[in-house]
Amino acid sequence: MQITDEVVVVSGGGSGIGLECAKQASRRGASVVLVDISLDAAKRGLGELVPGRHLALGADVTDRPAMNEVLDFAAAELGGLTSVIAAAGIVCRVPLAEVDPAEFANVFAVNVFGMQNTIAAAAPHLKKTGRPGAIVALGSVAANTGGGLMGSGVYAASKGAVVGLIRGYARELAPWGIRANVVAPAATETPMTLALSDDERSRIAGMSLIGRLCTPDEIASTVNFLLSEGSGAITGQVIQPNGGVYFN
Ligand SMILES: NC(=O)c1ccc[n+]([C@@H]2O[C@H](COP(=O)([O-])OP(=O)(O)OC[C@H]3O[C@@H](n4cnc5c(N)ncnc54)[C@H](O)[C@@H]3O)[C@@H](O)[C@H]2O)c1
Repeated sequence: MQITDEVVVVSGGGSGIGLECAKQASRRGASVVLVDISLDAAKRGLGELVPGRHLALGADVTDRPAMNEVLDFAAAELGGLTSVIAAAGIVCRVPLAEVDPAEFANVFAVNVFGMQNTIAAAAPHLKKTGRPGAIVALGSVAANTGGGLMGSGVYAASKGAVVGLIRGYARELAPWGIRANVVAPAATETPMTLALSDDERSRIAGMSLIGRLCTPDEIASTVNFLLSEGSGAITGQVIQPNGGVYFN
């Protein structure tokens, strides 16, 4: 299969960081596949992209057959897939020692299994392109801090698992020229952080050296750099646009 153009899959592409990543990718001429559990949100997202050959598809990342179906469809429509941004995620604020097992399992279903389902469903298509590909998953500072900024230790544990998952992909897919990295932001201004009270917001802002939450475009530009040829030597890494909340 000959692919000359970039086709970027964005899970959680209907909102926040995923949508901002998609907007930036469309600005450089990429085709974008917005996949979201909310088809309406994905369709609204289409309207924010620079016009092109884009798709909005409804699927739950926890449903592997559904992810296979939508990504096979997207690859057939657009002539293949070249990269994946795995952004779909949920936060959990219940402490580890108190969380209901079903809620714990649900956080892992979306944040870990969901990323696995997205990337594994895309992998056969990425391998077929015969050109360098890239995977970027959204992690979080929580993986290093143990939570406490926004999510609890439940969220932190799920984002820690994302790091191991992506390092595994970096190693497994290297023979096909596919790189895989994690972008781990600090609290970012998206619908996910709308639930924060004013007090929590200023406490979180005060933990950073920049004195504010990150913006979605700051995170998206990091993600899109990791899809570019200029980042060709970066794989298996955790890149942290975190406003200096901590140093690596
Ligand atoms: N906003 C932050 O402060 C922040 C900080 C660090 C990391 N992150 C991570 O960045 C990613 C994006 O977060 P955001 O702030 O843009 O969140 P958001 O809530 O604005 O967007 C998340 C999107 O994922 C979709 N989604 C949720 N569950 C899904 C499922 N099961 N299947 C398919 N789609 C699903 C939602 O419909 C939504 O459109 C997440 O992985 C999050 O954990 C966010």
